[in-house]
Amino acid sequence: MAQQQTASHMLQSLRMTTASCLFRSMTEADIPQVYAIDHEAFPAESLFRPYSSYARELQNSMAHYIVGCVPSTRRMRRMSRPWYKRLLRWHHFEDAAVAYRASDLLLGFAGFWIMLDEAHVIAIAVREPCRRQGIGQGLLVSIIDMAARLHVRVVTLEVRDGNKSAQAMYLRHGFHVAGRRPRYYSDNQEDAVLMTTDDIHCAEYVERLRGLRAESLRDGWLAHPSLIPDSE
Ligand SMILES: CC(C)(COP(=O)(O)OP(=O)(O)OC[C@H]1O[C@@H](n2cnc3c(N)ncnc32)[C@H](O)[C@@H]1OP(=O)(O)O)[C@@H](O)C(=O)NCCC(=O)NCCS
Repeated sequence: MAQQQTASHMLQSLRMTTASCLFRSMTEADIPQVYAIDHEAFPAESLFRPYSSYARELQNSMAHYIVGCVPSTRRMRRMSRPWYKRLLRWHHFEDAAVAYRASDLLLGFAGFWIMLDEAHVIAIAVREPCRRQGIGQGLLVSIIDMAARLHVRVVTLEVRDGNKSAQAMYLRHGFHVAGRRPRYYSDNQEDAVLMTTDDIHCAEYVERLRGLRAESLRDGWLAHPSLIPDSE
């Protein structure tokens, strides 16, 4: 709770710019803020995602989560050093080995499950005051990149029929409509629209993603997603 109050206080005093958004893997320290963002963005699904479910997800080898955050001042100082910037830009480095304490302010998160050769997006959400600044795109590009490294072929998802802003984001990232699930959402009987990418390893998609990634990385040390260990 204290963490949530600090986060909302920081948000109020911060005019967000995407220049300071870092994308990295989610850790246990992030759970309180992820819980708050998830429940703000998906009030109807809140019942299905109790607090304890996030820790379980982090233990689930099929599940992968990333967050977009404003790094703590201490990390920011470290990241503003030239050698660190170069590392981020050139090697898509993520200091996953560093123990993250709950000092980063989270702006959004996204997660997916791997099922055979498919990555299925479970959730993607950005704090309400931080939307329309490219964070959703940064998250989406990050999970597609992560999925590609895990040798997944396609990325799929379900989106509410009425959620036109999210659909616009997915269309922009090469998703197309693959079907519908009538009355899929139990709270209001809304249809789900099923969307999928084509093969994310095909040359055309790789090129498209490169352009989107360049947009996301355009600001200073806006960092890139996770480094997946070779063993995965
Ligand atoms: C969907 C969501 C994650 C987008 O995050 P965001 O940070 O606002 O998205 P971005 O600023 O990166 O926008 C990326 C693109 O998405 C589309 N988009 C995003 N919000 C939009 C809106 N309100 N209206 C129209 N298009 C929109 C645009 O194409 C945009 O590109 P542009 O700004 O260059 O036109 C965010 O609105 C959110 O958290 N919504 C609530 C949770 C949700 O619905 N998640 C999706 C469930 S399937």
